Amino acid sequence: MNLISNIRDSSDRYARCIQTSKRVRWDIDKDVIRGRKFDTAHKFLPDGLSLADAFTTLSADEKRFVSQIQGRTYANFFGLVERFINAKVLELSEDHWFGDQVALEALVRFSDEELKHQALFRLVDAMVGDVLPRGYRFDVDHNEVAHAVLGKSTWAVLGLTLDIELFTQLHYRQSIDADPQLSELFKDVFLFHWKEESQHAILDELEWVRHDAGLTAEKRDSAVDEFIELVAAVDGILQAQAKADGGYFTATCGRAVHEAEARAIEAAFLKAYRWQYIHSGAQHPHFGKVLSSLITEDQGRRIQSALATLH
Ligand SMILES: [Fe+2]
Ligand SMILES: [Fe+2]
Repeated sequence: MNLISNIRDSSDRYARCIQTSKRVRWDIDKDVIRGRKFDTAHKFLPDGLSLADAFTTLSADEKRFVSQIQGRTYANFFGLVERFINAKVLELSEDHWFGDQVALEALVRFSDEELKHQALFRLVDAMVGDVLPRGYRFDVDHNEVAHAVLGKSTWAVLGLTLDIELFTQLHYRQSIDADPQLSELFKDVFLFHWKEESQHAILDELEWVRHDAGLTAEKRDSAVDEFIELVAAVDGILQAQAKADGGYFTATCGRAVHEAEARAIEAAFLKAYRWQYIHSGAQHPHFGKVLSSLITEDQGRRIQSALATLH
């Protein structure tokens, strides 16, 4: 494909994102919440995401409680990452200020949607907080994390962002599993988030490939290391949250939990969080396809061996 048709093709893709974004646009109260409340009789995350089977010592009721804790952390985790994703999108939009106005509009809509999603996830956190026992904590400063992430190269941040926005699609597909115990309200959170995230993943890829084309082999090679550092930083957050959520479960589940079981519960939380926030995206076929089109085999092996340490 020559350069002109390449440019035309990507311009069409930005335009299609705008069209879809307009068509699927939703409102937090009118479309997602619709006056409903969360009910602790339901699971908030499906078993395929909460990894209910990994919590081998827990009863069915306790596994449901685990899915509710994880649901609250889900809202908090997305509120966290969408802070830096939005800042990066606004920064990238500058490349289009006096250029492709279609691309600019697509990124402005992307940013607007991420601000709305953060508001949705803050609301979900508060609403879940209303029905669960006191004592839950998510002690991560959104702005501090965003500053640290944005200190890395754009290539690395876009890689992590594509990974995240692709796994929201997989999460949605898991949530449409026929499980009558699954909260209809939480299912709608997955559904409506997925509707807008699908365009974000396309835009991430367009921007990543565009940005990559301007990099030297040397810069890209150090960006690969920074991508690995970002994944490790995400894992650090997941480790701390698995400990916090395991401790919260143990303190509020209503029975005595001995030390060995408490450690096993924490380990199961960490396994679930690594699946939700790292491996489900890293194993996404499209992520692998885009990533491998940008890097060398040696760089691919470096990434794979870093991911393999997180099991
Ligand atoms: Fe989002
Ligand atoms: Fe997004």
